[in-house]
Amino acid sequence: MALRPILVAPDPRLKQVSEPVSEVTDELRRLMDDMLETMYAAPGIGLAAIQIGVAKRVIVIDLGKPKDEPDGDDEEGEASSKKEKRDPDPMYFVNPEIVWASDDLVLCEEGCLSVPDLYDEVERPARVKVRYLDYHGKRQEIDCEGMLAVCIQHEMDHLEGVLFIDHLSRLKREMMLKKLQKSRKRETVG
Ligand code: NI
Repeated sequence: MALRPILVAPDPRLKQVSEPVSEVTDELRRLMDDMLETMYAAPGIGLAAIQIGVAKRVIVIDLGKPKDEPDGDDEEGEASSKKEKRDPDPMYFVNPEIVWASDDLVLCEEGCLSVPDLYDEVERPARVKVRYLDYHGKRQEIDCEGMLAVCIQHEMDHLEGVLFIDHLSRLKREMMLKKLQKSRKRETVG
């Protein structure tokens, strides 16, 4: 696995529409491994391939799962290691499609690794059903609510070249982009 640099707005590559994946190959799995490692290192809870400059419809998410939660299909049986931290719970989505969205909306504060250190509230459907291919190329469907619903919709926006700041007013968006450019200049100078 390898860490990849994360693109930061207003990098024009982030506005690209990503291409569907024709087949889940070992090469694609290597990309997903790199994405996960890059996301963990950032650290973040979701990453789309375009954020590391690869215009493919692939996203990874890890919201973690509580350590104490009994988990039927978990065979690790690590009852001894009780920490405050959550267990890793990596999720891989290839060619994700929203096949249903709830009418009720939820307002949630979002941030983005490509819009570092800036946060604002975005309104989205509270629940969505997503169809996708998993890490092994198997067709799956998942009902998402809470953080997962917010996160998956945020990441799927990236596949269309849309950032969370594109959901804000033009004034707010331009302020945020100005801040990003300022902090980037400081980094180049320093
Ligand atoms: Ni993002």
